[in-house]
Amino acid sequence: MRYGPNLLEEILRRTDIVQLVGRRVKLTRKGQAFWGCCPFHGEKTASFKVENARRTFHCFGCGKGGDAFKWLIETEGLSFPEAVERLAGEAGVELPKWSPEDEAREEKKKSLYDVIALAAEFFEAQLYEPGGRAAREYLKGRVLDEATAKKFHLGFASPAGNALIAHLTAKNVTMDDMIAAGLARGADENHGPRDFFFNRLMFPITDGRGRVVAFGGRGLSADAKPKYINTGETEFFSKGRQLYNFHLARPAAIKSGTIIVCEGYMDVIALSKAGFEASVAPLGTALTEDQLQLLWKVAPEPILAFDGDAAGRKAGLRAAHLALPHLKPGHSLRFAFIPGDDDPDSLIRTLGPGAMQKVLDAAEPLTDVLWKSETEGKDLSTPERRAGLEHTLADLIGQITDGKIADYYRRDFEARVFDAFKRRPKRAAWEPGRGRGNRGGRGESGRNPRFPPQPEGVSEAVKASLIARQGGPLKVKEIEVCRLLLEEPELAAKYSETVAALPFLDLSLDRLRAELLNVAASGSRLEKQGLENHLIRCGMADIVARLKAPPREVGEETASGEDADARFLRAASQLRDMAERDPERKRALERFKQEPSEESWLEVRRLLEDRSGE
Ligand code: UTP
Ligand code: MN
Repeated sequence: MRYGPNLLEEILRRTDIVQLVGRRVKLTRKGQAFWGCCPFHGEKTASFKVENARRTFHCFGCGKGGDAFKWLIETEGLSFPEAVERLAGEAGVELPKWSPEDEAREEKKKSLYDVIALAAEFFEAQLYEPGGRAAREYLKGRVLDEATAKKFHLGFASPAGNALIAHLTAKNVTMDDMIAAGLARGADENHGPRDFFFNRLMFPITDGRGRVVAFGGRGLSADAKPKYINTGETEFFSKGRQLYNFHLARPAAIKSGTIIVCEGYMDVIALSKAGFEASVAPLGTALTEDQLQLLWKVAPEPILAFDGDAAGRKAGLRAAHLALPHLKPGHSLRFAFIPGDDDPDSLIRTLGPGAMQKVLDAAEPLTDVLWKSETEGKDLSTPERRAGLEHTLADLIGQITDGKIADYYRRDFEARVFDAFKRRPKRAAWEPGRGRGNRGGRGESGRNPRFPPQPEGVSEAVKASLIARQGGPLKVKEIEVCRLLLEEPELAAKYSETVAALPFLDLSLDRLRAELLNVAASGSRLEKQGLENHLIRCGMADIVARLKAPPREVGEETASGEDADARFLRAASQLRDMAERDPERKRALERFKQEPSEESWLEVRRLLEDRSGE
């Protein structure tokens, strides 16, 4: 690390943390400390404490806390070195210089930043000069108003071909520096030195600190080739490590808890103008691992909003595979596919921000995208192909390095495979009136060769019968527990261990539980309605509806004076006790979970039915 502990200590000692925090949070003095409403979670009563004596902030509600560096990291999304530099600057502490070579390199870099800043100013000014008229017309045609153009410092590179070189030369910038900054091409046998960008609408690309480091330039005519050109790799610009608009999106993402990744410059601008300020785009390449890590620094589940075309789907899938090895509890992705041939820019322009919001609300979880890509439109009618699918899914799970997450994925895929192929082919055996023990259904015709299974097929019947008909106190208890979990979304996060250990027999409820744990592990804080919507999107609409619908089953406890936590804990422990008393059932279920075959399933069913009258 560059800075020693003494220096950091010195910076903290000279920083007035109350004043620093006070810029964002209204604080009131009580004794030695200052109190206010915590900016990290919504609250009405002040449980957020800041003390100069300890030089810390701390929230007793959500547990967030730390020193002044941490404060800037959390609220402004700065990196640690950035926070150190900022506070050192404010406190008047001089940071040590490194070796003379380091320093010389830094000086050089600094001067190149200045060169790029000069170019950015020049391009921007050109847009509003008489010569920039074509570009202004172009913007008008794309319904991009002047205020927005100014916000993103859009500019224009004139068609002359050496206007920038002339401008910078007059400012004593050397040709070498222009080339090093990616602004000019040197002379070759056919040409003298030329501007890198000409006759293009210019999009400045900033780094995390908001300094311009590169440009994207769009040709003005519809048939410009290439449509966009971007600054090549330079000492301070690496396409794969930076994101367009990250600088402005970062604070917005931290505030809103989410960030949107779209494909292009114009999409970012349109999104931001429509109120989605936490929007970024990669820079002309597919999303990279570095960019993923950058995104996860500011939001637990970035939403990738890809164009609806085949290329967009492909890019989405590529990102999905890229993410697998890096998934951690609280780090995932969601995927919003824009319908039709639209991109966010055209969708917002034609249908408005509301339409975009709908697309974002319908963003699919990573598991869905993976599952669909392996199954949709595929012929999975033969045992070999189905086995092949299970193989592929196992390979995907094998990519996940986090054990806990891999486990959830395994269960999720198992449940899906089961839903799709392993349920009994005919509903007849589950129907009321059929004698129990009617287990001779294997090999019957009526297998459903198509995927996905038809809605009137077995799975609906099974779900319905499982929950509706299967009485039995254990089942009633399972339903009760699930209802409580839906009513109080915080419970699953708070008691995730307990929830994970619940001996659920009902497979639909078991899937619901798995998804609740997924959500909890992702760190997303969902309201009740948000959670229900999420579950519905995960294909659990029927079970959610069933759980919400009165009347409650006989034997289910109705709300008493207890709070939700107590009711949940009691129901969970009752459920555990009941399951303990029924080891045969537990064993059958374990067997089934380990090897979800038709036989093991029938065994579970038989035990359920045997006891449904008790
Ligand atoms: P698109 O072709 O989807 O363009 O490229 P777009 O963003 O919708 O642009 P408009 O609306 O036609 O102006 C998506 C992104 O891919 C990069 C750019 O970053 C662009 O924003 N790209 C595209 C290039 O780098 N070069 C190209 O020739 C084309
Ligand atoms: Mn576009």
